[in-house]
Amino acid sequence: MKQKIVLAYSGGLDTSVSIKWLQEKYGADVVTLTLNLGQKEDFKEIEERAYSTGAVKHFQMDAREEFAKGYVFPSIKANGMYQGRYPLATALGRPLIATKLVEVAESEGAHAVAHGCTGKGNDQVRMDVTVRSLNPSIRVIAPVREWNMSRDAEIVYARKHGINIKPKKSVFSTDQNLWGRSIESGPLEDPDTEPPPEAFEWVSAVDASPDSPGYLTIGFEAGLPVSLDGRKLDGVELIRRVNEFAGKHAYGIVDHIEDRLVGIKSREVYECPGALAIIEAHRDLEQLVLTRTELAFKAAVEREWSWLVYSGLWMEPLRFDLDAFIGETQKRADGEVRLKFHKGGMRIVGRSSPNSLYRLKLSTYSKESTFDQNSAVGFIELWGLQSRTAASAAASKTRGRTQREQHTERKQNQAVK
Ligand code: ARG
Repeated sequence: MKQKIVLAYSGGLDTSVSIKWLQEKYGADVVTLTLNLGQKEDFKEIEERAYSTGAVKHFQMDAREEFAKGYVFPSIKANGMYQGRYPLATALGRPLIATKLVEVAESEGAHAVAHGCTGKGNDQVRMDVTVRSLNPSIRVIAPVREWNMSRDAEIVYARKHGINIKPKKSVFSTDQNLWGRSIESGPLEDPDTEPPPEAFEWVSAVDASPDSPGYLTIGFEAGLPVSLDGRKLDGVELIRRVNEFAGKHAYGIVDHIEDRLVGIKSREVYECPGALAIIEAHRDLEQLVLTRTELAFKAAVEREWSWLVYSGLWMEPLRFDLDAFIGETQKRADGEVRLKFHKGGMRIVGRSSPNSLYRLKLSTYSKESTFDQNSAVGFIELWGLQSRTAASAAASKTRGRTQREQHTERKQNQAVK
């Protein structure tokens, strides 16, 4: 019986060429798998291309809800953000794709899975590590990493094998899902060149955005967004709507220099209006309900969590341990946050929670205040005690040295005479 390989198939040039290449090189049957993670694609067309290129079987799965609940939601609770800027959209999608590849490989009796990641990026690490943690007996093949063909060579190969390739719409290399769109290559490879307008699909140009501000109220329960303007929505629909609303107001572009896991610095551009807005709102709510100590500790946990996810260690036990801590902190994260969008900017203009730690009677400057200002005096006395002690020790040391130096100088002068 022929061996089988399950290929993660996007319908693009790399993975279409991979179908033929895997058949030729391994003499195997190729089963293709395409997941809907909320990207805007014509899935029917992808299926047709898979079959016309030689797949023996094609799987198309709608994994949007699983992606939202199992991957994006934990990231919202963790305020997941790599290097403070990137909300991890692609990084969160990869372990789910890897998980589905393993599921299909097991049900189809395949000995290997394959993906179209290059040898220069993070995605190969995320895919390989996840597949191998889930089922070490399944082999992972990465044709693009192995074959070393340039894009032109791939086109020649595709023509030679009669592969019907989709005419490329743009010079950019992109990846998208519900949580964001990653844009690379073409003119973006020069970090000093402003991204041209045609790089963007989710976020409007400032000039084309509405003249008056738009408001959105996001309701949270236990750290998760559950409603927009008072209306309950499921995760997929809620995120989709925030993307649309914020994007229309020209909000949601990230342009930064990013450190890839393999050591390369790269210029990355993202459109992630929903992710940025929801995380900002979530952070703001946490600021209202968590203590200063919790917030400081959680910030360190968030950094570590984001690093694990970025670097392909979704399956690392520490990630689950951190999720447990984060989950505890989210029990009080209920409330509403009001966001104001205008001409590419966003500001949070209101927040409320049944678990708020804000006490008007303590913070007010009016005469209703219950805060005893005299108690601050004793507090300041002790709070500054070590700073004062250190400052006086430093001052007396300086005086001491000067006296010694003066003494030595006098002695030397006497000796000369
Ligand atoms: N630099 C981002 C990341 O590592 C985006 C990767 C985009 N991937 C892609 N295949 N175009 O998550």
